[in-house]
Amino acid sequence: MLNFDDVPKVALDFMNSDHEEATNITNALMALLDTAEAGTADTQAISDTLQSLHNHCVEHFSRENAQMEHFGFPAYPVHHGEHERVLAEMQGEMDAWRDAGDVVRLKNYTFQTVPEWFIGHIQTMDTVTAMFIQQCGGPFELA
Ligand SMILES: [Fe+2]
Ligand SMILES: [Fe+2]
Repeated sequence: MLNFDDVPKVALDFMNSDHEEATNITNALMALLDTAEAGTADTQAISDTLQSLHNHCVEHFSRENAQMEHFGFPAYPVHHGEHERVLAEMQGEMDAWRDAGDVVRLKNYTFQTVPEWFIGHIQTMDTVTAMFIQQCGGPFELA
């Protein structure tokens, strides 16, 4: 499980809120996968939670992208590109889960790939982005 106390905090509250929501959904998915014995996995609940994580990431990333674009963040293409890469990777895992229902594969993605990426991404791109936007007087009001 991810402990939100251990998730690095950035300079902007809206980003920390998104990171808390991402933490909560990832933890919900981990809890479902933890109790998924071979053949008795609640596949619908797992699929629904994985879809929730993807939906959250689309919105979370688009909020960051909008702020970066608005304030002309110089590394916008790199940060935006990383968001796109992660969404494509997540879609690939969703497709694989739908087609094969491989709990071991999805556990590996959820317990290894996602947390490692999440913490590393916040420590680097999100941290620098939040400082830049704050120094520009942002964030601008999101709809
Ligand atoms: Fe973020
Ligand atoms: Fe980001």
